[in-house]
Amino acid sequence: MARVKKSTHGGNIYRLARELDRDPDDILDFSASINPLGPSPHVWKAIVSSRHLLGHYPDPDCWDLRRALAAFWRIDPVQIVVGNGSTELIDALPRALKIQRLLVVQPTFSEYAAAMGRAEGSTTTLYAHRRNHYAIPIDRIKQVLETGRSDGRSIDGMVLCNPNSPTGQACTVEDLVQLAKVAHRRGLWLIIDESFADYCPDRSILGQVELQAHVIVLRSMTKFYALPGLRVGYAVSASATAGRLQRQLPPWSVSAMGQVAAVAALDDEVHTRRSLQFMTEERERFRMKLAALPGCTVMPTYANYYLVELPRGRTARDITGRLRRRGVLIRDCSSVPGANSRSVRLAVRTRIENDRLIREISPLLLNRGPR
Ligand SMILES: Cc1ncc(COP(=O)(O)O)c(C=O)c1O
Repeated sequence: MARVKKSTHGGNIYRLARELDRDPDDILDFSASINPLGPSPHVWKAIVSSRHLLGHYPDPDCWDLRRALAAFWRIDPVQIVVGNGSTELIDALPRALKIQRLLVVQPTFSEYAAAMGRAEGSTTTLYAHRRNHYAIPIDRIKQVLETGRSDGRSIDGMVLCNPNSPTGQACTVEDLVQLAKVAHRRGLWLIIDESFADYCPDRSILGQVELQAHVIVLRSMTKFYALPGLRVGYAVSASATAGRLQRQLPPWSVSAMGQVAAVAALDDEVHTRRSLQFMTEERERFRMKLAALPGCTVMPTYANYYLVELPRGRTARDITGRLRRRGVLIRDCSSVPGANSRSVRLAVRTRIENDRLIREISPLLLNRGPR
């Protein structure tokens, strides 16, 4: 029997719960970076009052959600494509845009390369460097885009994760505009994954400048809006590009509850403000606690997670494994190209949960302890 390839993503509380014979709710998950305040209370109300929709197919045009998103960003609904999470859109983009060779900046989210592989294309890589705290190398990216070639072969475009996962780094809107200009001039696609940009709105290209024809911005309702189980993401682009992308998606891929919940979540400005304020404060408090752990280096972040380098002599794999056995999931980043073997990504969760992580991880860093 063919073996099912294990997911390398964070957030798999189900597998760990099975391994430990526990309830998934008992797993403390720092490996997926979801708003620790949870979804807006409006979401629950909207779901309850839309129960009757379960007896129907969802709206294949996601019309109410696209209209709400268009009003939110002050754009035309024809520029928006909604997918079953931004992952579905990442998967469809190489086929929709006929991208055969894509530039990626590592360390970054693995699905870009995975999607290129599924589309029988390939990626070529630039690296952000540890010595610069993994700052996005804008000048080198521009050079590559200017030539339209990398490693001696032509490229069709690039994907930039902004803010980037797992490093937390983000470039400015001015940087993005410059990249968009070069990409436009060279006829290259520029895909900007803004799945975590709700946490740094002033670094988002959406809503700030008009998008060039070759730019596609991806957004997710998973992280900031805390709807990972409902699977809703969207792409914003020129309408012709949106049409190409839409044609690559299967019908009804976004559930009725996902659409209803996303509309309700977008509408709750109070929860949005509270979530941002909470993250600003707790992220800094957590950073100070992490930085005080012996030998740990905490990278700067614009998102709701930290890339942390464990002390010399420790490995991400070992510490991740030991926390797992205690029902705590963190993201081992040692296999992410460009990250070293001591790199882990930690979500910022509630104050109580963050303190528990500090308590759990501290003894593991001091001595090797019982396995
Ligand atoms: C950078 C980045 N983009 C996109 C996604 C996919 O998010 P979703 O499919 O839940 O919208 C993830 C998920 O971890 C991510 O980290």
